[in-house]
Amino acid sequence: MTPPTVDTALLQRAAADIARSRRTLALTGAGISVESGIPPFRGKGGLWEKIDPMKYAHIDALVKDPETVWRVLIKDMKEVLDRARPNDAHRGLARLEEMGLLQTVITQNIDGLHQAAGSRDVIEFHGSFARQRCMDCGRKMATADVELHELPPRCRCGGVLRPEAIFFGELIPPEHLLRSQQLAAACDTMLVIGTSAVVQPFASLPVIARGAGATVIEINPEKTPLTGEISDYLLAGKAGQVMRALVDIIEKELRETRP
Ligand code: OAD
Repeated sequence: MTPPTVDTALLQRAAADIARSRRTLALTGAGISVESGIPPFRGKGGLWEKIDPMKYAHIDALVKDPETVWRVLIKDMKEVLDRARPNDAHRGLARLEEMGLLQTVITQNIDGLHQAAGSRDVIEFHGSFARQRCMDCGRKMATADVELHELPPRCRCGGVLRPEAIFFGELIPPEHLLRSQQLAAACDTMLVIGTSAVVQPFASLPVIARGAGATVIEINPEKTPLTGEISDYLLAGKAGQVMRALVDIIEKELRETRP
């Protein structure tokens, strides 16, 4: 089945908003990586439909029973993330940054696909799966170097290793939270891509941007709590498809105005 085409007039409007903006930010969530083969958390086929996040993705569960959390959640996640490669949406954002049209990506994703696509200024709001940290001595190591024949994997000191990602019940690193809030308050245009916008404090960033007068553009096949309330308009479609079309328009216009 051919995917529905994205509204051309809205794409043109978004291209003009981005071209005119002096500071554009992109906020991303699990939806941007769906076309890379990583399932989202909520909705049909979402991870939280299969497992209860309060039972397996809460810091208390990890501390109490790391073996179960590794077995049920983290090991599978590692296998999915190992296979994932950036898609047109990740590449589109990297291209916008390269063209000087995007300042920073703030992502809730822990998959590292923005950096793999070439984005340089990326705030990993919920941390990263690329590194593990010993829960006893704090030693860090690359996830790629962690052996999984025994669960949970352990540090050489005997402590349990955990991903450097935020579990429910943990705080966002203050430096990430503060910088993200400052950027949101100072941007002119914000692209909000592939997030259900229900998890705080990330979901408050578009509210901050809108309150400071920015244009907020959503890219998502579905409406979210931001739609019609906080966002100015929704480019309805899959992130890869929409970003490819958007970057094509911007590149064409730049070629015409900067030959
Ligand atoms: P969700 O799974 O809550 O939402 C995914 C969003 O992506 C939904 O709005 C979908 O409509 C949309 N979507 C699906 N396919 C898409 C596609 N191809 N292109 C664009 N959008 C698409 O994911 P997040 O909002 O990222 O936190 O979830 C936020 C946080 O909740 C996660 O970081 C994680 C989770 O619990 C922690 O684990 C701490």
